[in-house]
Amino acid sequence: MHTLIFATNNKNKVAEIQSLVGPDFTIIPLLEAGIDIDIPEPHETLQENAFEKASTIHSITNQNCFSEDTGLEIEALNGAPGVKSARYAGEGRDFQANIDKVLQSLNDIDYRTAQFRTVICLLWQDAENILQTHYFEGICKGRIAYEMQGDKGFGYDPIFIPDGSDKSFAEMSMEEKNVFSHRKKAVTQLFEFLQTK
Ligand code: IMP
Repeated sequence: MHTLIFATNNKNKVAEIQSLVGPDFTIIPLLEAGIDIDIPEPHETLQENAFEKASTIHSITNQNCFSEDTGLEIEALNGAPGVKSARYAGEGRDFQANIDKVLQSLNDIDYRTAQFRTVICLLWQDAENILQTHYFEGICKGRIAYEMQGDKGFGYDPIFIPDGSDKSFAEMSMEEKNVFSHRKKAVTQLFEFLQTK
């Protein structure tokens, strides 16, 4: 049995990842670990932000932990909102305002290719007590819808349609989203790694 702190307070992410892990792993979100802080994401890459979150939590708890950072990368916007996805429309981290800004930015543009990219950073104390840093990446390719579709999920889900589907993520159950999900792909690699431990 492995216990891992997940450096997030995002209930949707915890629920998604919880739905992916077997009984051999116990995932503890920050609040459950008694940590009530908002970790900054000041960097220019998903990797650096993920490392910042994981190392902040490791320095507080001294326990194995992981974090993840996700960005929506839209080709016609040169990869924006990317690492700034949470705050695309301002510091309020407002899902609806972020979606509105994406739809407005793509108003006259039919080239709507996009991808979600997740980077997980794991800080893991090995058998010799050496702290290892590992990264795992998951990508989901797709396109941006012309208008919002569906009311499930969170974030940009109502406007993202993964390749191989006509439905947006917000029109899918969690199980359907997991067939395509960037986060699922990254988490699968994380747990494949952990299973060797
Ligand atoms: P962060 O990884 O929490 O910084 O998320 C960056 C932004 O992308 C936030 O606005 C999230 O809501 C959004 N986001 C992250 N993962 C997903 C997803 O699976 N679907 C839709 N939006 C997401």
